[in-house]
Amino acid sequence: MIDNIQRIQKEVGSELAKVSDLDSLEKLRVHYLGKKGIITSLMASLRDLDPERRREMGASLNSLKTDFEAQLDSRKRDMARVQLDKELTQSPKLDVTLPGQFPIATGSFHPITLVMEEMVEAMERIGYQVASGPEIENEFFNFEALNTPSDHPARDMQDTFYIDKGILLRSHTSPVQIRTMKDRQPPLQIISVGRVYRSDYDMTHTPMFHQMEGLFVEQSVSLADLKATLQYLVKQLFGNQPLRFRPSFFPFTEPSAEVDMRCILCKGAPKECRMCGSSGWLEIGGCGMVHPNVFRSVNYDPDRVTGFAFGMGIERISMLKYGIDDLRSFFENDYRMLEQF
Ligand code: DAH
Repeated sequence: MIDNIQRIQKEVGSELAKVSDLDSLEKLRVHYLGKKGIITSLMASLRDLDPERRREMGASLNSLKTDFEAQLDSRKRDMARVQLDKELTQSPKLDVTLPGQFPIATGSFHPITLVMEEMVEAMERIGYQVASGPEIENEFFNFEALNTPSDHPARDMQDTFYIDKGILLRSHTSPVQIRTMKDRQPPLQIISVGRVYRSDYDMTHTPMFHQMEGLFVEQSVSLADLKATLQYLVKQLFGNQPLRFRPSFFPFTEPSAEVDMRCILCKGAPKECRMCGSSGWLEIGGCGMVHPNVFRSVNYDPDRVTGFAFGMGIERISMLKYGIDDLRSFFENDYRMLEQF
């Protein structure tokens, strides 16, 4: 038996040297150490020997086995290293720039948040302060103080969400003008961004959306100041785009205007422009000179102060900026859309 063990020892050595891949290494292991393997069978036959020989042969067999196992292990590690080297150096090459198997998802800001921050920062650079007000408002701040009479269509239940008698979800950010003027004295230079609510839902209207309000009150503010301010803001957001002011009506301003920006897609030379509906212009907000009645409602003297105000839809600006064409996609929380920002 001892001859047998020595023979196997040699044989194992030369067999191991011949093996060149993990598969044949495993076969070799099974051949010697598997259930019916050579070494395993020899181990089993020990019980037929007398105790002294059994001890002697057992020790030799054990050392053969541990030796073999150690060699198997070291060959296995060598081969794994060679295999990895091969994968790293031979084609198809391992592309380390591919995303990992379990990428760590990073968060990003919502496009509305991004545009709001950009607008606020632009206005802060020219001296505006951020003011805020509640989303649950009362009729006084949302309508009355803004010179909006009780028979005005905006005050209808159809358009505004009423919570209780006289209590509603603000339908614009303009009540922040009133709240701020009631609290403070001119000169005032404020903006306010936030959520507003209207009872509307289709391709271009959602029941909640965002606005930015601006208000400047001083001794002698002119329409030219308003124009320069909006021109500045548009330049910060979109680059140099001409503006146009169309006469309009808002109860809280006189005169009032709607502001259009030269279409950023067709640059005002529309053949068939889907962005501006081939008009060459994009509406971006409303504005005007603060109505004397608004000043009266906050106990400012309209003979001593003047002011301008403006309001813009943040969704509208975001859609233009990022080329988004369905308003509803802002609120569907589809990751594929949100991940792009
Ligand atoms: N509040 C108006 C709206 O929601 C927008 C607006 C127009 C705000 C003119 C103003 C303004 O401050 O002067 O439609």
